[in-house]
Amino acid sequence: MNEYIYYNPTRLVFGKNQIKTLKDELGRYGKKVLVVYGGGSIKRNGLYDEVMNELNKMGMEVSELSGVEPNPRLTTVKRGVDLCKENNIECLLAVGGGSVIDCTKAIAAGAKYDGDVWDLITLKAQPQEALPFGTVLTLAATGSEMNSGSVITNWETQEKYGWGSPLVFPKFSILDPTYTFSVPKDQTIYGIVDMMSHVLEQYFHNAENTPLQDRFAESILLTVMETAPKLLEDLENYELRETILYNGTMALNGTLQMGLRGDWGSHNIEHAVSAVYDIPHAGGLAILFPNWMRHNVDTNVDRFKQLAVRVFGVETEGKSDKEAALEGIDRLSAFWTSLGAPNALADYDIDSSKLDLIADKAMARGEFGNFSKQNKEDVLNILKMSL
Ligand code: NZQ
Ligand code: ZN
Repeated sequence: MNEYIYYNPTRLVFGKNQIKTLKDELGRYGKKVLVVYGGGSIKRNGLYDEVMNELNKMGMEVSELSGVEPNPRLTTVKRGVDLCKENNIECLLAVGGGSVIDCTKAIAAGAKYDGDVWDLITLKAQPQEALPFGTVLTLAATGSEMNSGSVITNWETQEKYGWGSPLVFPKFSILDPTYTFSVPKDQTIYGIVDMMSHVLEQYFHNAENTPLQDRFAESILLTVMETAPKLLEDLENYELRETILYNGTMALNGTLQMGLRGDWGSHNIEHAVSAVYDIPHAGGLAILFPNWMRHNVDTNVDRFKQLAVRVFGVETEGKSDKEAALEGIDRLSAFWTSLGAPNALADYDIDSSKLDLIADKAMARGEFGNFSKQNKEDVLNILKMSL
């Protein structure tokens, strides 16, 4: 294992009716709150009223920022920062999926930063302070509810970057599986692909002696694969929603990366694709990740073979290590396709015309990937395999 420090200060408040804890969880951070939410799903499913009710009972002074886009935009972050400054906001509450939470993280840091908040996202400056915030999660996918990362898109310059700071761990996150009942089938599929991709990003690393980390990762993949097909047939099943919600958080809250550094190359390429085409994050991952794996299988065939055998049940008899490894990748891709995820960029009407631009965007921070370094040629190859 590599040396490591594990730090995660987010209070995870999980289960039915846990909204009742909002009073204690949020109340300690002040009276003036900015509630951040998306395009209206929380108004349609009644959660907006439930949250406002609680806030009113607490006597909070509420400001609102609505309309956070999937793939949240810098312009929206700036609107939020202005609201915080104008209204002397003391704390924030994100009610939504990863996009709402990521936007809230950028607002929390931007509100305490004198310069342009884009400096923080492009890593030109480090936040020194941030407003405290909590979340009420409505979609199992990103893990943003219990990590310190955020992904923001500058639509004018077609740039989408991840950034992070220990200052933007949520203070608390309320996870009630019933709030995810209304997530439509396509978003449920994307969430499943995203959490599996997070596990896979961390499975591909170069640290040695990680038997427990490997089995943690494999157990999440197996649990999600066992649960996902049942959930897609029964979207309001509490136990199935509960299992998926818990897995999504565990996939990216730091647990799996103790003692190792995950690759994250597929995410980098996907962010470049969705910066240019604004496609759903995990739709892009379902297409790109298997091709990243095929392209990089020789980096460590044993690791790919271990995944194939332990998670995808590949029989090794009469096969070379590489054949077994490749079969595992095919089974992963087939599993995602069987759920209804896309498997080619053509599914989003993306042709070869902008591959060079996408590759340049993926290279904006230089060569990347901790398991396998990727250059522009690698990226172009993976993109071409994905057409
Ligand atoms: O905007 P509303 O109306 O709320 O609708 C949303 C949105 O259209 C809808 N939705 C959410 N909860 C719902 C619901 N619809 C019905 N019922 C509910 N309970 O779902 C749509 C997608 O929401 P979004 O928040 O965009 O999805 P997700 O959670 O997948 O977040 C995606 C974003 O997170 C970033 C991605 O790049 C993308 O921008 N990521 C963030 C990470 C992190 N912070 O750690 C890691 C990830 O790898 C990822 O990159
Ligand atoms: Zn992701």
